[in-house]
Amino acid sequence: MLRVVEAAFGDDEGPTVARLVRALDAAGSTRASIVVESDDDEVVGHVQLSRSWVDAREALVDVLVLSPLSVAPGHQRRGIGAALLAAALAEAERLGAPAVFLEGDPGYYSGRGWSAAGPLGFTAPSVRIPGPAFQVMLLPAYESWMTGALVYCEPFWATDCVGLRDPRLGRLGG
Ligand SMILES: CC(C)(COP(=O)(O)OP(=O)(O)OC[C@H]1O[C@@H](n2cnc3c(N)ncnc32)[C@H](O)[C@@H]1OP(=O)(O)O)[C@@H](O)C(=O)NCCC(=O)NCCS
Repeated sequence: MLRVVEAAFGDDEGPTVARLVRALDAAGSTRASIVVESDDDEVVGHVQLSRSWVDAREALVDVLVLSPLSVAPGHQRRGIGAALLAAALAEAERLGAPAVFLEGDPGYYSGRGWSAAGPLGFTAPSVRIPGPAFQVMLLPAYESWMTGALVYCEPFWATDCVGLRDPRLGRLGG
């Protein structure tokens, strides 16, 4: 499974994202890890859900973060990414999570029902997350008071997998 993560994210980011996967597992922060296999039992897609919190005024709210989402380069553009997103959201709903957050290209996620989280009352865990990339899916357990800052669990910080650092952030004008 780590192989598909490394292949999808490439030589630059792959090793760091694989470290995140291992750190989330080791910390007990993983809530779901879903894979898609090819006909010959090779893992060609993977998505992970882990615990984080929304620090609302009334209470700390358990939420989920969807990261990473990986499809092997040779298997992309066949709907595997969409299927993994659907499976992850079904699992998040089954787990009773009120919301799932992610950092991602709005070009990919906005057409799949995700919304910019900022305008809905959430604050990103870092100023290095470009506004449009900070996205959320609200689930049936969500209640209107559950807004506030998203607080990532520790492995995201330990592996430095939060937002973008310069020069990529600078190029986006963040
Ligand atoms: C993003 C990713 C998971 C999509 O997986 P996939 O199986 O190809 O996704 P689907 O087949 O469901 O959808 C493919 C469509 O999304 C589009 N797409 C992929 N990445 C996109 C992006 N960043 N912005 C806009 N559209 C994107 C493709 O062009 C394709 O559209 P088309 O079918 O109209 O040509 C895959 O490209 C991947 O693993 N990328 C590298 C890792 C990554 O960036 N993960 C997401 C981090 S948030």
